[in-house]
Formats: sequence, structure tokens, C-alpha cells
Amino acid sequence: MKILVINGPNLNMLGIREPEIYGRRTLKDLEKMIAGHCAGLGVEAVFFQSNHEGAIVDAIQEAYEKYDGIVINPAAYTHTSIAIPDAIKAVGLPAVEVHISDISKREPYRRLSYVSEACIGTVAGLHFEGYLKAVDMLRERLLRSG
Ligand code: DQA
Repeated sequence: MKILVINGPNLNMLGIREPEIYGRRTLKDLEKMIAGHCAGLGVEAVFFQSNHEGAIVDAIQEAYEKYDGIVINPAAYTHTSIAIPDAIKAVGLPAVEVHISDISKREPYRRLSYVSEACIGTVAGLHFEGYLKAVDMLRERLLRSG
């Protein structure tokens, strides 16, 4: 089982960026934590981060026939992008959306996610640990679908 973990804009600034919301751990810490969790499950995880919407669309398209599923934190593009959910639907891979913070309890403009509709589930507000839950959800779906 091979999954692609995508982090969107400004998530390369984890550890520096608004630590009261996103914590003090870095993107490297996050990727290490996910890789360890995946290794224990026999899942191969590959990581991608970009600040550019088109680069994220390209990464999703390139995942076609190379990966079994996607975990994605689209960051601010969650609330603005139609191209990202379109790309997820285009490749037909199961995807789980994850957010470090609870987007339902923040500014009103964060309450809408265009990406949710293209995903099998969403995990929000569980900090870095939410990515582990997202991996578990994806793995369970993949095991069930054979
Ligand atoms: C985020 C929430 C988004 O609203 C925000 O733009 C981000 C990060 C989160 O992980 O909580 O950049 O996706």
C-alpha cells in the first residue's frame, strides 16, 4: 500500500507559523511522525509540500496509477480551490482531508471546504495526530476495497 501525503501552502512554516494555532513542531517532525506510523502498518508514505495550487494539482495527477490513496491538507486552498477537488476526482483515488486546527471553530471563511466533497473523510482539530487518523481511515478503506 503506497500513499501520497500532500501539504499545501504555508505548512512548510510549521513551527514558526502561528504556534498558538499550529504548535511548535515542524513539517519535518510531522513527516517523521507519519512515516513512523505508516511503517508500523506496512504502508509506504511519500511526502509532498507546495505553496502553489498548480503544483498540487500536478502532484495529484501524477499520483494516478502510482499510489493507492492520498492524505491531503490543502491549507488555505481548502477554502478557495475547485482545481484540487477536481484533480482528486479526476484520478479517482481515495483521499482523506486533514486540518491541524478545527476549521469549524475559526473564522467564518474557513468553514467552507471545497475539497471535502472529493474526499472519503475529513479529520480536523486533532493537531499533528490527525494525520495518523487520516492514514488509518485511508488504510481501512483500501483494505475494505481490496
Ligand atoms: C489548515 C487550516 C486552513 O484554514 C489554513 O489556511 C491552513 C491550515 C489547518 O491545517 O488547520 O493553512 O488547513
